[in-house]
Amino acid sequence: MISEALSRFPRLDLVPQPTPLQRLERLSRHLGRDVHIKRDDLTPFALGGNKARKLEFLGADALGRQADTLITAGAIQSNHVRQTAALAAQLGLACLALLENPIASADPNYLHNGNRLLLELFATRVEAVASLDDADGLLAARAERLRATGKRPYVVPIGGSNALGTLGYVKAGLELAEQISAAGMAVSAVVLASGSGATHAGVALALAHVLPQVKVIGVTVSRSADAQRLKVAGLVQRSAELLGIDVPETLHLELWDGYFAPRYGEPNAGTLDAIRLLAGSEGLLLDPVYTGKAFAGLLDGLRTGTLAGDGALVFLHTGGSPALFAYHPSMLS
Ligand SMILES: Cc1ncc(COP(=O)(O)O)c(C=O)c1O
Repeated sequence: MISEALSRFPRLDLVPQPTPLQRLERLSRHLGRDVHIKRDDLTPFALGGNKARKLEFLGADALGRQADTLITAGAIQSNHVRQTAALAAQLGLACLALLENPIASADPNYLHNGNRLLLELFATRVEAVASLDDADGLLAARAERLRATGKRPYVVPIGGSNALGTLGYVKAGLELAEQISAAGMAVSAVVLASGSGATHAGVALALAHVLPQVKVIGVTVSRSADAQRLKVAGLVQRSAELLGIDVPETLHLELWDGYFAPRYGEPNAGTLDAIRLLAGSEGLLLDPVYTGKAFAGLLDGLRTGTLAGDGALVFLHTGGSPALFAYHPSMLS
């Protein structure tokens, strides 16, 4: 029923196969708990990551509206902007990105390397902005100016997180549920990074429909649990309306906000430990802004007993490793 509703929406084929669901063999032994990882860092598009799934729907909508320019916004090291810029290149559209420096970094790596370097290769037009507190307003005003010059801009919101973008993660949630069922796994929780919110909202909505016994835990990367709940709940509601499905009463948005300090974009000691642990035990790369913080939450949940139980845990790896090259080695060692 949800897949039928999803199939009514035009979609580009950026993620043609399910991404792997893998058991972390050595780490599971080390932690004494069955931990699996859903590899959305391997979406086959511009170095991977979660935005490919949202852009499948947003890109198709842009084409349907005959857009000639994608306009979006994010941090200088935004993974979302990197994948949006790549999509514009693939579709032969122009791309304009409004970029902020959320950690006021003067480090040349942060300013020029990592994701930012890739924007040069995708021939993105970049404009620096002081703050993205009102990103929607800034994007709308900039799009209006483009229209006045005869362009046909399509606004991709921060993180691709609107109702249409959320459909990408409703689809991914169904994909994950099928993999869990096919493997006969008993899963107690899925843990993911909750930022602009559509990843969390989409997975929570899909699983509430098809695997309601599985908890979905969003580890916040930029704001308090209360503020994040409003954002994610709004996306759940609006994407369910868009699809014409209900929001199950059992859907509960669990949010953990103890892992993002000191602020968005700046790793803490737990982030770095998590990155090192997964790299050293599994040869897998997390990132300093999103997945490093979310995985630190998972590890702490095991340590403190918040995640106690027998069922397996699934970590949704949403990508971001290009940002590793944006941080000075002293910040990561
Ligand atoms: C690597 C990575 N993980 C997680 C997220 C958070 O996903 P969402 O913005 O859908 O909450 C982002 C968002 O930019 C990201 O780049």
